[in-house]
Amino acid sequence: MNELVIDARNLCKKYGSLVAVDDLSFQVGAGEVLGFLGPNGAGKSTTMKMLTGFLAPTSGTALVNGHDIVSDSLAARRAIGYLPEGAPSYGEMTVRRFLEFVARARGFSGKNALRAAGSAIERLNLDRVPEQTIETLSKGFKRRVGLAQAIIHDPSILILDEPTDGLDPNQKHEVRHLIRDMSSEKIIVISTHLLEEVHAVCNRAMIISDGRLLVDDTPAGLIARSRYHDAVTLVVAQPERVASVLSELPQARKVELREGELTVFPAKGCKLFEVISDAIRENNWNVSELRLEAGRLDEVFRQVTQGEAA
Ligand SMILES: Nc1ncnc2c1ncn2[C@@H]1O[C@H](COP(=O)(O)OP(=O)(O)O)[C@@H](O)[C@H]1O
Ligand SMILES: [Mg+2]
Repeated sequence: MNELVIDARNLCKKYGSLVAVDDLSFQVGAGEVLGFLGPNGAGKSTTMKMLTGFLAPTSGTALVNGHDIVSDSLAARRAIGYLPEGAPSYGEMTVRRFLEFVARARGFSGKNALRAAGSAIERLNLDRVPEQTIETLSKGFKRRVGLAQAIIHDPSILILDEPTDGLDPNQKHEVRHLIRDMSSEKIIVISTHLLEEVHAVCNRAMIISDGRLLVDDTPAGLIARSRYHDAVTLVVAQPERVASVLSELPQARKVELREGELTVFPAKGCKLFEVISDAIRENNWNVSELRLEAGRLDEVFRQVTQGEAA
């Protein structure tokens, strides 16, 4: 990690007796695209609201580019662009008027505000709709307006709360593409409950559950925690017979038959793909599918957030 840009120190947030964020500490450095992954109610949005200065921590704090979000909130906020959950309000404003309004709120005046709005419009490919009112836009375009207001002051850090939530698959793809584009020059923190999103845009993932940090890893490291990592799955005629042969392999630790698929788990340090390919050839099995498993993110997620035994 190079330069430290976010330094969260023992962040806590209580709502009455509910502990929404429980002693969260983490650092984010240059070049990172960090995914907050967690089930609904995990505390992702609450953490983001604290980092962006919208909500005061019950205890703990965070430094943003060295500025304390509690005691030096204004300076901290300047470095951050924030996309809150849901859609932007001000539906009756046109895209351009709304962005000019946000630019002025961010301290631009006169021509500079117009210029900032114009460049955000260009950046987020809103050129076709600047004179349209926000309420008449599709969800995908509304989300782009949300992203445009987040980057209007060219912040070095972007905090995006479920940026693809509620979008259709094409719109999700588009927004992820935009995020990847921006990640070359900004530090990005996104929250999501979608596992594939972490894979698509992040180079680091934190799994949060019940307000606590459970895992902090790369997407590759995360998937390698899966018990399916390096397992081999096949679909074959007469799976019971094949299973009994494969379970005799010294490289196999365990064989499981589930929903018509046979999965062979490797013994520690063993590779399975070649020996299984050989066995298929030698025995002339009728195999319709054969794959080496990278691991299954959904299973890791369940295991981590529900403590499900591996
Ligand atoms: N304003 C609030 N008042 C009371 N409880 C809240 C409030 N906001 C969030 N919570 C609760 O705090 C927990 C964390 O919520 P949130 O941060 O929104 O989680 P996430 O974004 O991961 O879904 C949840 O149990 C939620 O119900
Ligand atoms: Mg949320």
